[in-house]
Amino acid sequence: MSVFEQGRIRTGDNGLANTKAEKLLWLIPAAAAMAYPFLLDAFHLAVSPASGETSAARLVIAALCLLAATAAPLLGLACAWRLTKAAPSSFELRARRLAYLSIAAPPLFVLTGVGLGLLHIPVSDKPVWIMIWLAASLYVLFSSEQERPAKSAAIAPSIAKWRVTHGIAAAVILLYVAFHLTNHLLGLLGPEVHAAVMKAGRTVYRSSVIEPILVALMLFQVAVGVRLAWRWSTLPADAYRVFQIGSGVYLAAFIVTHLNSALVSARAVHHIDTNWDWASGAPTGLIHDAWSIRLVPHYALGVFFVLAHLVSGLRGVLIAHGVAAAIANRIWATGLAAGGLVAIAIMSGLCGARI
Ligand code: HEM
Repeated sequence: MSVFEQGRIRTGDNGLANTKAEKLLWLIPAAAAMAYPFLLDAFHLAVSPASGETSAARLVIAALCLLAATAAPLLGLACAWRLTKAAPSSFELRARRLAYLSIAAPPLFVLTGVGLGLLHIPVSDKPVWIMIWLAASLYVLFSSEQERPAKSAAIAPSIAKWRVTHGIAAAVILLYVAFHLTNHLLGLLGPEVHAAVMKAGRTVYRSSVIEPILVALMLFQVAVGVRLAWRWSTLPADAYRVFQIGSGVYLAAFIVTHLNSALVSARAVHHIDTNWDWASGAPTGLIHDAWSIRLVPHYALGVFFVLAHLVSGLRGVLIAHGVAAAIANRIWATGLAAGGLVAIAIMSGLCGARI
């Protein structure tokens, strides 16, 4: 019976959990993160043939590459779940956290590219990217396998307090996110409609009172979220909890990357108006630009995970208020499906589709 079938790491009599080969297996999420930029390159090659003619075979290859790149974070989710265990060794805990981190590969790769540009470091982002994940893998690989004392499953009062604060801040942030995503959905009606709605929205969220509060609230939510994820990652968790933590990790990386791109790089440093043209990578567009293609999984999963993370929170609140788990789970699954459809619709508009 393989390690995966068990779904848990075998614990030998001596407490040592893994042979070298098995330890390497748990670094698959890091390997997937390292491969991520090359899947995007393969997509770009497939959609920009030298002859200019795109054959059906090329389109299929392109679609498979983009799908694989967008699905790569799911590998991290699956491994994080498989690594859930009551008393993990340092190796197992670090491997689990690395799996969670790998879920955020799409925004982290955007941040690597933008960051190197802002710091005027004239090197390609791929070797830097690979070195980061290699260093993280070595940090995991060379960690002790001694079992750590099991953490009490009871949540410390401080964590319970942060959870409530996190929930309240989420309700406020939801107001902006609901407007923001509706604004991008309207991109399907054309850039003029998108611009008109954004102009109206800016009178509120760009005001000198609201904008600092919005940005501070977003960063506060990220900090509290990371604190909660760090704590929860030490405890055994069911698939719903692992999904909640994983989508939270993605959002933490997405929000920091997105704010850096919009407020620091575009507005403050390059004095670019962060309008539809900026978001859609005009004039080349997101699909045909070798750099901007990384924004497709980044944005698509950003939309999906923000809605899915909110629905995961709602599921927890419903169950805590006595709603049957079966009903709460159905609402959760419907919310995820709706989040996926909204993400596909927004991305179709950003990539040129119109209704
Ligand atoms: C398809 C996905 C998304 C796209 C294309 C997008 C695009 C944009 C654009 C164009 C701006 C500049 C707005 C302006 O100048 O008025 C912006 C700002 C911002 N976005 Fe997004 N966004 C996306 C998803 C998200 C998500 C999921 C969140 C939250 C979790 C988010 C949070 C923000 C925040 C906080 C700002 C700064 C607002 C400001 O201070 O001007 N975005 N985004």
